[in-house]
Amino acid sequence: MPTSVVIGAQWGDEGKGKIVDSYAKDAGIVVRFQGGNNAGHTIETPEGKTVLHLIPSGILHEGTKCVIANGTVVDPWILAEELEGLKAAGHDVGPDRLLLHPRTHLILPWHRMLDSARESLRGDRKIGTTGRGIGPAYEDKVARFGVQAWMLGQKEHLMDRLNTIAQMRRPTWNGLSIKVPSVEEVADRLLEIAEKILPFVQDPSELLDSALKTGEPAVLFEGAQGAMLDLDYGTYPYVTSSNTITGGVCTGAGIGPRWIHHVVGVFKAYCTRVGEGPFPTEIDGDLGEEIRAAGNEYGATTGRPRRCGWVDLPALRFVIRHCGMTMGALTKLDVLSGQDKIPVCVAYELNGERLDVLPMRPDLVVQLKPIFEELEGWKEDISGVRNYQDLPEAARRYVEYLSDALDLPYASISVGPGRDAIIPVRNPYTASIVL
Ligand code: IMP
Repeated sequence: MPTSVVIGAQWGDEGKGKIVDSYAKDAGIVVRFQGGNNAGHTIETPEGKTVLHLIPSGILHEGTKCVIANGTVVDPWILAEELEGLKAAGHDVGPDRLLLHPRTHLILPWHRMLDSARESLRGDRKIGTTGRGIGPAYEDKVARFGVQAWMLGQKEHLMDRLNTIAQMRRPTWNGLSIKVPSVEEVADRLLEIAEKILPFVQDPSELLDSALKTGEPAVLFEGAQGAMLDLDYGTYPYVTSSNTITGGVCTGAGIGPRWIHHVVGVFKAYCTRVGEGPFPTEIDGDLGEEIRAAGNEYGATTGRPRRCGWVDLPALRFVIRHCGMTMGALTKLDVLSGQDKIPVCVAYELNGERLDVLPMRPDLVVQLKPIFEELEGWKEDISGVRNYQDLPEAARRYVEYLSDALDLPYASISVGPGRDAIIPVRNPYTASIVL
């Protein structure tokens, strides 16, 4: 069985958790390769709603092993909390099912403090981060004084590294008047939580290598955030601090590109963004509010209301190009039921001229005005539809219009939050048609 990568094709919150949960039933291993607990993946099963921030969304399938790989940044207290939550919900996850890469960098208390202090300092130039310390944790990794998961079991190394961080970062903390806990306090807290985390710290490379070489079991790579938030290719500087595009899989999970067979881009039937930054198709006023309410568009991590907009075809093409997407997973189609017309952004206007591609220069992206084409809407509630042919004609026309315009076949179409509210179209691992 080949591998598949699930990537957010917009600004995050595309419904990846549900898609990964759905595709994971055929995967033996699910791997998170970037980001941290800035992500919030919601899965609704008959047993209830589960929100995961760090643990891969495949964990709800008993037979699936999950890997939190080296490209992520992990807040050990949040991980412990998430494990407790799963246990309370009847999923007692042990080290046989969850592996935390020893080289994963840890988010420490001062990372969160620095994250919010920097946001305050930026004033109206703030990024609108999730405040989880993601950026500062990646900064320490690149600065080569980050704390890695293996150190939780090696007190001497841990103390040495914490002292180095304090020495290197003290001028920043003092400059921003951040009252950080002492090295001893952070060390005590880390050594206390280490008991719960260390059993999971295991090298996943042999497990992965064997699966990739033999094709058994299938491996699913779970992206977090969205490609438009990629550190290199997103709407910089309004981005996250990791590579959310497909390329992030190779460094973030330590595998060669030859093992990536299919890339599924998840995108909503409309579009949302949380946090600051350009959003050319944003809807102002009551209609934006209506979509937000219909789609329950509030952040799974921070509870912030999400900004709502229409599908942006040039932005999606930009993402498809940078991710080598082979299939799409359309989500939340049901949210558009009841709209008379559905605008789709087909190009932009910039300084009075038409532009068919998303420009690479961030200063131009903020000036774009969308050029819309309108498609007919539909009135019917489609949340119970499970066969493509049972969708109203206008809904099918919309779905097909997007696929044609993007030159991207579908793996699935999602019509509601529930686990079964999905119309499968192609096998996400082989691309063979399942209709
Ligand atoms: P950070 O990742 O917390 O540093 O936030 C940087 C930007 O990415 C902000 O605009 C956040 O709102 C956004 N962001 C981070 N994680 C997510 C996510 O999982 N969904 C949507 N937006 C996110």
